[in-house]
Amino acid sequence: MSKKIVLITGASRGIGHATARYLAGQKHQVLATARSQQLLDELKATHPKRIETVACDLLDAASLQKIIDHIRDRNVEISALIHNAGGLVNKPLRDLTDQDWNAMWNMNVLSAVRLLRAMLPFFAKKAHIVTIGSMGGFQGSSKYPGLSAYSTSKGALSIWSECMAAELKNDGISVNCLCLGAVQTEMFSSAFPGMKAPVKPDEMAEFVGDFALKAHNFMNGKVIPVALGDP
Ligand SMILES: NC(=O)c1ccc[n+]([C@@H]2O[C@H](COP(=O)([O-])OP(=O)(O)OC[C@H]3O[C@@H](n4cnc5c(N)ncnc54)[C@H](OP(=O)(O)O)[C@@H]3O)[C@@H](O)[C@H]2O)c1
Repeated sequence: MSKKIVLITGASRGIGHATARYLAGQKHQVLATARSQQLLDELKATHPKRIETVACDLLDAASLQKIIDHIRDRNVEISALIHNAGGLVNKPLRDLTDQDWNAMWNMNVLSAVRLLRAMLPFFAKKAHIVTIGSMGGFQGSSKYPGLSAYSTSKGALSIWSECMAAELKNDGISVNCLCLGAVQTEMFSSAFPGMKAPVKPDEMAEFVGDFALKAHNFMNGKVIPVALGDP
């Protein structure tokens, strides 16, 4: 039987990094990706036997192939995919260019589509895909100036996750989206300069990690707000 892994994107820092460490600490086998090889090496050093890494730019198809090759070479199956990588542009309407909008769409929506399409042959039975959305992209939540492109792209990611849950149900694959509130990371600081978030990456990592391992036994196609307050 093939070995099972949890695949985590955006694992070089912030929430993804903390989630990779948390799951490895729980004795799960983790495949961690991001662009920064150096930061991934530092992550691997925390749990050398449990964490494998592939440096990959999710916006680049050739780079995505590195994840495919890694999984094929090791003959592993994905029991959970946590698509956590994301980007943020903080600009008001008048400064947001078409390029900014395309960048948000590419990073926060299309990267998830491409990754899932590429990973389809490698999922274990009853696999769980968790997409990391944002409270900014959750209908009816508070909205903030400068975050329209980011929030819109995260809203699209959550709807896409619902669509994928319907589409992959018969393959035994579940898909849920976590719309996170404020967590103290580099991204939070660029969205809300000078503000302090009520949650640390390690705290959120525990929730995200446990959710990825267990929640698909109880729900599918859900878009879930995970926030203490505003923002
Ligand atoms: N922090 C918050 O308050 C908050 C709130 C709501 C939602 N979220 C969501 O939570 C997720 C993690 O956020 P975070 O705060 O931990 O962000 P972060 O500290 O900025 O980390 C983002 C991660 O995404 C990776 N990444 C960015 N562009 C990439 C690309 N082209 N290819 C591959 N990897 C790429 C980065 O690694 P490299 O730069 O090494 O590639 C990094 O590991 C994001 O989806 C974010 O939208 C965060």
